Amino acid sequence: MSRVIVTGRVPEEAVRRLEAEHDVDAWTGRDPMGREELLQRVAGVDAVLSLLTERIDEELLEAAGPQLKVVANAAVGYDNVDVPACAARGVVATNTPGVLTAATADLALSLILMTTRRLGEGERIIRSGQPWKWGMMFLLGSGLQGKTLGVVGMGGIGQATARRARAFGMDVVYHSRSEIDPQTAEELEARRLGLDELLASADVVSLHCPYGPETQHLMGAEQFAAMKPSAYLVNTARGPVVDEQALVAALEEGQIAGAGLDVYEHEPEVHPGLLERDDVVLLPHLGSATLETRTAMATLAAENVLAVLRGEQPPTPIRQR
Ligand code: DGY
Repeated sequence: MSRVIVTGRVPEEAVRRLEAEHDVDAWTGRDPMGREELLQRVAGVDAVLSLLTERIDEELLEAAGPQLKVVANAAVGYDNVDVPACAARGVVATNTPGVLTAATADLALSLILMTTRRLGEGERIIRSGQPWKWGMMFLLGSGLQGKTLGVVGMGGIGQATARRARAFGMDVVYHSRSEIDPQTAEELEARRLGLDELLASADVVSLHCPYGPETQHLMGAEQFAAMKPSAYLVNTARGPVVDEQALVAALEEGQIAGAGLDVYEHEPEVHPGLLERDDVVLLPHLGSATLETRTAMATLAAENVLAVLRGEQPPTPIRQR
């Protein structure tokens, strides 16, 4: 029997699978385990099932010890995991691609609708108790039919978002490291553009790229200035892909029409300049937050742990590009 730590609360099914084969220390607190507690509890474990709120770095790997075999991150993004440091110690690192694609794309589309149709604003009016009446010119938003969605990062989630946007009558352009497969490009009638061209032509820019040194502040002052004043930004990827200070300035100056954010540069803190704006929709990182999806993520992470501890290939190892 090996020792496994689960660093945060996850759906029961994942813990049950691990417990069937191993000695499991599963955190059940509502808030994530504190760093100090984690560094103590990780000592001597063979496997870590981590959440995106935990930093898996040299310090943690050292605290765990040389018997550690696998870090299974229950997220598709793995910017919280020092993958080269894991590799240097012979620790297998895994993530959970695929299982949260639909849920995250659903949320991106929700943010597109919320921003363009001013749904947050409308809801706030009702809740505030202020008087309102139907009016021909009351809270007019903008429609999606015939508009252009610019997808930045055309992996699985970007493609799934594009597919949903097509159902709402949008045209699709994308910016990505590589061309998508020709069949999908044909199905979505999607054209690949350089970032500048995409920013100049999109009515909604939706971010789906991974976060790393290359994408830090990919959207900054220059990029907002290149967007149409009537365009919206949606971010369901990672907060630091957007320079929030520059976003606030762009909104203030009317360089763009609004933004829908599920992730934040200094998560869980939100830039105060965003909090006070009506043209911004703010969600608390809910991209994959359905019971079905979180169960699939946690059980896939558990399967990755179990495979490595059995000496087998894990289903979804992180393949760094
Ligand atoms: C991920 O898996 O990277 C998502 O951000 C979780 O919702």
